[in-house]
Amino acid sequence: MQLNGKIAIVTGASSGIGAEFSKALTKKGCHVYGLARRSERLEQLQSRLGNHFTPVTLDINDHEKVEAWVDETFSKSPLPDILINNAGIGYFGAVDELAPEDWDTMIQTNLTSVFRLTRLIVPLMKKSDATNHIINIASVAGLLGNPNISGYNASKFAIRGFSESLMKELRNFRIKVTCVYPGSIATEFFDDHGGTHPNMMQGEDVANTITHILETPDNFLIDEITMRPLVPKPPNK
Ligand SMILES: NC(=O)c1ccc[n+]([C@@H]2O[C@H](COP(=O)([O-])OP(=O)(O)OC[C@H]3O[C@@H](n4cnc5c(N)ncnc54)[C@H](OP(=O)(O)O)[C@@H]3O)[C@@H](O)[C@H]2O)c1
Repeated sequence: MQLNGKIAIVTGASSGIGAEFSKALTKKGCHVYGLARRSERLEQLQSRLGNHFTPVTLDINDHEKVEAWVDETFSKSPLPDILINNAGIGYFGAVDELAPEDWDTMIQTNLTSVFRLTRLIVPLMKKSDATNHIINIASVAGLLGNPNISGYNASKFAIRGFSESLMKELRNFRIKVTCVYPGSIATEFFDDHGGTHPNMMQGEDVANTITHILETPDNFLIDEITMRPLVPKPPNK
């Protein structure tokens, strides 16, 4: 896909890799609708990225508001070419200590709301004769189970199945689906879990890889990609 002039929706644009995707795509000439709850952070990003970035303050778990935004925005503006389902959260801990409400919020945010937004955008993409692209941000936790992240594992394993099914369902409508499995990236995601260290991947590098995947020729599909830091351990102090 040639990115210049394309319309992208990025969920979780207020920080981390969502902000990096927004930066990379606006630089390529896309118009990005960046969705998240923290409006101040979105506005700060807009002041850096300019008018190619539209901040959209929305909780993706508020399905009525998300549907109203999709209806209003795309009834009068060009239809979206790219959807990056990136917003996500992690609550970690032993299974007998993980609060049921934290499980519910993880499944809601990382899985159900991905389905709810995707089902609104797919009909718009089906109207287009051009190639469109949905990118789902899973995690290596969508491939490998590990202790104390059972709820996060469950939500990201589910995104893998959702993505593979969609990929086979939508390819004949010229809609690409790519599921992304990153290892640790230095973002705010780890702020509540011991912070980051310099040997994690950098969000900018993840964003450049996603840009490359979006720019591949129309009849060329990268349906899954895993990325990891080469040496994942913190440097010795
Ligand atoms: N960092 C890593 O090592 C890593 C590794 C593999 C996969 N991932 C995945 O990468 C994605 C992005 O994470 P990140 O590392 O960039 O962390 P981050 O900086 O914490 O970003 C998470 C984003 O999700 C948004 N978000 C969370 N709940 C939301 C809701 N209900 N409605 C709208 N937006 C919501 C947050 O915005 P607001 O708080 O403003 O709403 C924020 O913009 C997640 O899906 C995560 O699971 C991260």
